[in-house]
Amino acid sequence: MSNLTYSMIKPDAVQKNYSGKILDMILAAGFKIIGMKQIQLTTEQAKKFYEVHKERPFYLELVEYITSGPVVALALKKDNAVLDLRTLLGATDPNEAAEGTIRKNFGESKAVNAIHGSDSDENALIEINFMFSHLELSC
Ligand code: RTP
Ligand code: MG
Repeated sequence: MSNLTYSMIKPDAVQKNYSGKILDMILAAGFKIIGMKQIQLTTEQAKKFYEVHKERPFYLELVEYITSGPVVALALKKDNAVLDLRTLLGATDPNEAAEGTIRKNFGESKAVNAIHGSDSDENALIEINFMFSHLELSC
């Protein structure tokens, strides 16, 4: 079990100045930030980042959304990082997310849902290395 995960505050939440409140929740939950940067993704980068979803009907909509403004990319460390972050994010659809979760507090809709979290240890490393190649992390 890896102790790393990747998170990304999405353009809707950055635009509404929720980054500080979201970072507070992440830190209060016990995560350490080992990498953080605010960046505007290019369409090419976004297509590569979301390649796993390229057969899904919402792929192009997702690429458009994630490039609609800057994101805050985060490399995070904690025991059980992947699962604990996903618990803190809540369900994909903010309307179904539990009380006290980031998506419940700050998400708009199933598509526009404030924040991303890696879904497995394997993808966490791929995503961290994609955004923070200088960290050169491995299992
Ligand atoms: P994420 O990858 O962003 O942490 O979200 P997730 O695992 O909860 O959801 P996933 O199935 O991986 O979907 C990735 C992102 O695509 C958008 N989405 N839109 N229109 C739709 O039905 C739909 N479904 C998903 C969301 O932005 C979701 O976070
Ligand atoms: Mg996902």
